[in-house]
Amino acid sequence: MTNHDILLRKCEHAFEFAGRQLERLVTTYPDFFPMYTQQGKWKHSGEAWTNWCEGFLGGQLWLMYQHSGQEIWRERAEHYSRLIEHRKTDRSVHDLGFLFWSTWKRWYDVTGEATVNQVVIEAGRTLALRFKEKGRYLRSFVAEDSLFIDIMMNVGIIFYAAQQTGDANLWRIANEHCLTTRRYLVRGDGSTAHEGLFNTETGEFIRQSTHQGWRDDSSWARGLTWALYGFGTAYYFSRDARFLATAQACADYYIAHTPAHGIPPNDWDEPNPPYPYESSAAAIAASGLFNLARLSGEPARTWLYRDYALRIVDTLTEPEFLAIDTPEWEGILKHGIYHQRKKLGVDESTMWGDHFFLEALAKAIKALGEME
Ligand code: GLY
Repeated sequence: MTNHDILLRKCEHAFEFAGRQLERLVTTYPDFFPMYTQQGKWKHSGEAWTNWCEGFLGGQLWLMYQHSGQEIWRERAEHYSRLIEHRKTDRSVHDLGFLFWSTWKRWYDVTGEATVNQVVIEAGRTLALRFKEKGRYLRSFVAEDSLFIDIMMNVGIIFYAAQQTGDANLWRIANEHCLTTRRYLVRGDGSTAHEGLFNTETGEFIRQSTHQGWRDDSSWARGLTWALYGFGTAYYFSRDARFLATAQACADYYIAHTPAHGIPPNDWDEPNPPYPYESSAAAIAASGLFNLARLSGEPARTWLYRDYALRIVDTLTEPEFLAIDTPEWEGILKHGIYHQRKKLGVDESTMWGDHFFLEALAKAIKALGEME
């Protein structure tokens, strides 16, 4: 068997394992939306910090449906999508892309139903209400003066709503948010800051900051992968070459600073990090790199990004990461980190890690099929 065939088989096995874990999750804890595990268990009393993960279960169920074609997954996916419909008008979080792109957008892609699309568009319109004209950014959930790198993963739903409706103001908001993030949160070496703080009276940028990284001037790995993926999405919608260049700079930083197995620590700059891996960042990077491989248009980059994404998937499908040999473990992917400073979900499974891992697996299977 060739390396190519071995990896394809690992991806198929990982999907089967994910199906068993998801089946166990929705039957053991019906209508429960987990965020991260505690000692491998989804249900616990640990705090959420913010409610941004309720789309990732429905998202995984849609991915299971798209992979398997089995109606049971579609029924579950629709059910868990409906449970979050009311969040389309939620103005308390900056995460409506995470919630609705993972769920209702996939639902629309499957059915083409206009009423389903309207929910996605409304979520995009709601998110756009966070725009601060002074400073030109979508504010984070923590405060008016705060811009998060994470919002790059959500701004795509505003581009989409603008495209669907022809609303030029929505387009302007999405575009300006990306330009502001690029200018103040992405550094010259392709690393990223987690947060930017602004003077809300004047719009003046004050400084970079962090919540989940090591230091204000350091490189929190997941934040960079949100940028890698999110600027790729911004380029997909806008075809603005600056966004592609930014996504590529983030990708090149990731590749240059991560060990050969492809899995970064929580923060590349932290000396002697207490945990060697932040697997959710690797899953996001893999999925984002598969996108960039298709978007870049340069053969050398296409090969580099696709091969590196396959390398990450190869590592994440080993039993060190895939919880396949840990029978009591309820998640899919081990060794993720949510919030190291707050000690939330450290060296655990996370819902977004599992979600983007499944998304990366689907893209890996497609890419391997095309390479045959
Ligand atoms: N708040 C999003 C994240 O933890 O990546």
